[in-house]
Amino acid sequence: MTNTYAVVLAAGQGTRMKSKTYKVLHPVCGKPMVSHVIDHINGLGADRIVTVVGFGAELVEEEIGDRSEFVLQEEQLGTGHAVQQAEGLIGDLDGTTIVVCGDTPLITPETMEALVAHHNETGAKATILTAYAQDPTGYGRVIRDESGHVLRIVEQKDASEAEKQIKEINTGTYCFDNRTLFETLRKVKNDNAQGEYYLPDVFGILQTEGETIAAYATADFEETLGVNDRVVLAEAERVMKQRIAERHMRNGVSIIDPATTYISADAEIGRDTVLLPGTMIEGKTVIGEDCTIGPNSQIMESVIGNGAVIRQSVVIASKIGEDAAVGPFAHIRPDTELGSSVKIGNFVEVKKSVLGNGSKVSHLSYIGDADIGERVNMGCGTITVNYDGVNKYRTTVEDDAFVGCNSNLVAPVTVGKGAYVAAGSTVTKNVPEEALAIGRSRQENKEGYVQKLNKKRSGGAN
Ligand code: UD1
Ligand code: CA
Repeated sequence: MTNTYAVVLAAGQGTRMKSKTYKVLHPVCGKPMVSHVIDHINGLGADRIVTVVGFGAELVEEEIGDRSEFVLQEEQLGTGHAVQQAEGLIGDLDGTTIVVCGDTPLITPETMEALVAHHNETGAKATILTAYAQDPTGYGRVIRDESGHVLRIVEQKDASEAEKQIKEINTGTYCFDNRTLFETLRKVKNDNAQGEYYLPDVFGILQTEGETIAAYATADFEETLGVNDRVVLAEAERVMKQRIAERHMRNGVSIIDPATTYISADAEIGRDTVLLPGTMIEGKTVIGEDCTIGPNSQIMESVIGNGAVIRQSVVIASKIGEDAAVGPFAHIRPDTELGSSVKIGNFVEVKKSVLGNGSKVSHLSYIGDADIGERVNMGCGTITVNYDGVNKYRTTVEDDAFVGCNSNLVAPVTVGKGAYVAAGSTVTKNVPEEALAIGRSRQENKEGYVQKLNKKRSGGAN
């Protein structure tokens, strides 16, 4: 779209959220609301995007990064005043400007495009996106004359009883002739219930001046939800969650129970992967094809290879190789890299470690700060002793080594290629290639011990 600009309103505090977090930074499906809005606008290919920031300006700018330019609204005097702050950047350009609120994360690029198309068809100076709400409480209402022409928008707090009955609401998304927008904003007054400069007043002013204004009604109210409090935040989460799940299902992912499966907006999932109930896929996770994830698994900021199976486990900021099997009840902590066909069994914790192809840690182990080669078997209960209370040290176990059950590998230490560690050993020295390390005291049997004990017990009688 050429000569198209966008203004995103994100300066408000969000008092009704009752939160330390500024409203537009509250996440929906793991991504701050304002980021959803910016991504949608980006999809339109606008020439300039200007975000109006105020409360939490630094944090909002950090979140949006180079996806937008910014202007500061020092005092929050209303949505009209907010848009005015962009005048210095785009006020003297010819073209069309879309204005969107940072708290309406569900409005799709398709709907915005339809709004712009309607705006161009009607040749209006200003076009508002409206929707019909079953419960319009809190939203601005669209006032039309008997022939259906839009006259003005009235805010909930300024509305008469009759006006409050109107179900057609202002979604907070608009399209304007750019120059007209900034010229008209100068005429907006703050003589209303909230003492604010309302952006929607531009419509009433243009209408009385005899300019053409238009409205484009979307059929989908849910898409236009404006998140002002946590009740609507949860509603937005539900709608977005369903939308994301449907996108993946249409792409060939099986989601057994979408109601209990959470997928972040930015996750990628390959075909024929199955997500079982109670699974959360968070952040920019990438899951390959033919995987089985869940039930009850949490995968965060990770990359999962094709064919991997992750059951009832937590995987954070790690890479899981093709055909690997994790869980049930495993905890894969950040900076772990599992090769292909690695097996991590129940009650195993792995942290900041690399495991080569085909290696196994099947039961009850802690593997931290370790470099483990290929085809290594770490026996049940093996522990890498990586921390002396001050520093952390790495453990190396080379290809084809076999570490017996219940061994402690006291780092820094290396178990050489093909070496064996006897069960129950505490390994404090490097083990050479193909050697056997036994690091435990020898067993001694005391024959007849129980008879002697019994004698003592009966006080020496007999
Ligand atoms: C606004 C509309 C209302 C509409 C609703 C849709 C006005 C006056 N009312 O009401 O008609 O039905 O959105 O969701 O516009 N903001 C600023 N600076 C300010 C004030 C607000 O940047 O001085 C930003 C907020 O951060 C927010 C957006 O503008 O992202 C909307 O503000 P909010 O206070 O939520 O307006 P609503 O009362 O929801
Ligand atoms: Ca709002």
